[in-house]
Order: sequence, then structure tokens, then C-alpha cells
Amino acid sequence: MFPFDAIAVGLAVAVLISIVWTSFRVGISPMPSSQKAQKAIISAIPENTHGLIIDLGSGWGSIVFPLARSFPLATIRGIELSLIPWAFSRVRALLSRHSNLDIQRGNFQTTSLDGAEVIVCYLFPEGMESLRAKFEEELKPNTLIVSNTFRLAGWEPEEVITLDDIHQTPIYRYRVPAK
Ligand SMILES: C[S@@+](CC[C@H](N)C(=O)[O-])C[C@H]1O[C@@H](n2cnc3c(N)ncnc32)[C@H](O)[C@@H]1O
Repeated sequence: MFPFDAIAVGLAVAVLISIVWTSFRVGISPMPSSQKAQKAIISAIPENTHGLIIDLGSGWGSIVFPLARSFPLATIRGIELSLIPWAFSRVRALLSRHSNLDIQRGNFQTTSLDGAEVIVCYLFPEGMESLRAKFEEELKPNTLIVSNTFRLAGWEPEEVITLDDIHQTPIYRYRVPAK
């Protein structure tokens, strides 16, 4: 094997280990929302949204880029902990030059959600469970939450969109209740 091949294989293994290790730590892989889910999430957000839309766990950027295109007057913020998906989406953001897109590396559990008009997420049951108290504490009443696949236990969705896919994937639309 040439040294170049060995470096490429070493890098590929390091990237894979980083993704697998972080997925294990946070409880979910950076699996992107499907195109049908992306469309449904966008349709669940009012067209005239011009405030802050946050994607909790933005992965490779699969939803933040369509959001930035669909809501040019809004500010789209992605928060992602996993190094490789975050770095990939940052480079993509620099190249695409969306002026309303900001992708931050960090843990959304310890990042303030203050000022958000819409929250988007595609997580897992325990992740949703741990976010409920944070939503109630940090988000203004009536803030819109759109969750791909996973419900927020204890909250009543104002709408459930069922995707026309093999899993009949639900997209939940919630409003933060009055305090
Ligand atoms: C299933 S992916 C969804 C990606 C993207 N939101 C989409 O819909 O295509 C979930 C992402 O959440 C990230 N994640 C999970 N817990 C996190 C945390 N506490 N802070 C930041 N990112 C987190 C994972 O690393 C993963 O990339």
C-alpha cells in the first residue's frame, strides 16, 4: 500500500470512529431527515416566519439548508455536537453563502433557546423527554415545535402530518403551552 493510500484509509477510519463514538454518546446517529420529511417540516412552518428557527441536532445540514432557502427573512440556526457532520455542514454553509444561516458546534442541552420562534428536531424518545422541561423554561408560550418522528410525551400536538412513506412517519407540530 502506498503511503497516500494508508493516510486515506487512516483518515476514513478516524472519521468513522468519530461519527460512531459521538452517535453512541448522544444517543442518535446523524441520519438526515428524508426529502418527504423536509417538505412536511417546511409546510408545517408559517410562510411569513421571520424570526429565529433552530434545528436541534442539525447533523449534515439536511434540514437547515432547505429552511434557509424557504424562509429568507428568518435566521436559521443549526446546533450540532458531532464534529464531522458539523464540519461538513459548516463548509457547505460557507460555500452556499446563505446569509441567514448559522451552524454552531455545541450541545443543545446547554445552549440557550431564548428568542426562538420555531424549533425543529429529529431526535429520539429520551432526547425529546429531556427537552420538555427546557422548552417549558426557555421558550415563549406559543413557540412552534416541529418534531420529525418522535412525540413530546405529555404534550398534545396541534397537528400530526403522516408522511406517505413505508413507515408512515409522523411529523408532530406543537405549541409551547401558556405558563
Ligand atoms: C437524526 S439526526 C437529525 C439531523 C437533522 N436535524 C435532520 O433532520 O436531517 C440527529 C442529530 O442530533 C445530534 N445531536 C443529538 N444530541 C445532541 C445534542 N445534545 N447536542 C447537539 N447535537 C445533538 C446528533 O449528533 C445528530 O446529528
